[in-house]
Amino acid sequence: MDNKTIKFYATILGMILLAIFMLSGNIRKPGRIYAPDMAYSNAGETYGESKIPTKVGDSMRYMASRLPVAGTIPFGTIPQNELAKNEAYAFSYTYMKHFANTPADKARAGALLKNPYMQTPEVLKEGEAAYITYCSNCHGKTGLGDGSLIIRADGTDGPFKAIPPSYADRLKTLRDGEIFHSITYGWNMMGGHASQVSPDDRWKIICYIKKLGGLPDNHTVINAGAPAPAPVAAVETKK
Ligand code: HEC
Repeated sequence: MDNKTIKFYATILGMILLAIFMLSGNIRKPGRIYAPDMAYSNAGETYGESKIPTKVGDSMRYMASRLPVAGTIPFGTIPQNELAKNEAYAFSYTYMKHFANTPADKARAGALLKNPYMQTPEVLKEGEAAYITYCSNCHGKTGLGDGSLIIRADGTDGPFKAIPPSYADRLKTLRDGEIFHSITYGWNMMGGHASQVSPDDRWKIICYIKKLGGLPDNHTVINAGAPAPAPVAAVETKK
């Protein structure tokens, strides 16, 4: 073996020993890190801690996330379409912020909010789809108050004991904004539908139920803003 060959084998042996040395020990731990700033970001983690204090109410919090500016409207809350230029429509998306669940605010909504939709075939079609899903189980397919929760298919009394009034009777006493209020917050025995039905669908449903009640877009409201009728009684019936 000449010197060159010895050097060659020595190098190979050295590399093998080095590899064994490097692979031995706890391989689950990362090795030394060069320039740790590049491996670990100094930027604040969302919802993490920060050295900069933020005033929340009366106390100071040390959080990385900044608070949104007062009056911020969450992205996507108000649709970015042509209709959003209609003030009443845009307003209805933040309805519960501006109108409380009180008869006075129901009347105020009746005076302020106008339905951005009319009873066109497309609006009625979408209103009908939402109505069938969320309302017809009580109010009935034709709006007479005979849904399957009120009267079962076999003619016996259903589980829900308060019989909704027919739309033909009730809606002529309500302005569109008041109907919007009742769908949003509910009314007496009827629960609110704000979490299920989007404001957009609520307006379309209003077009549809007015159609069911035989009322035109600009229906004349009998006794606008008058005190509400007494709650419908929950009837106790035999099975
Ligand atoms: C669980 C049964 C039930 C469901 C579901 C229901 N309603 Fe009602 N609704 C009632 C009852 C009962 C009343 C009568 C309340 C009263 O005047 O005492 C009523 C009343 C109303 C009124 C009159 C409110 C007022 O201000 O006088 C409107 C309008 C109405 N419902 C629309 C709807 C729409 C639209 C939906 C679907 C989004 C719906 N309801 C879903 C039971 C229901």
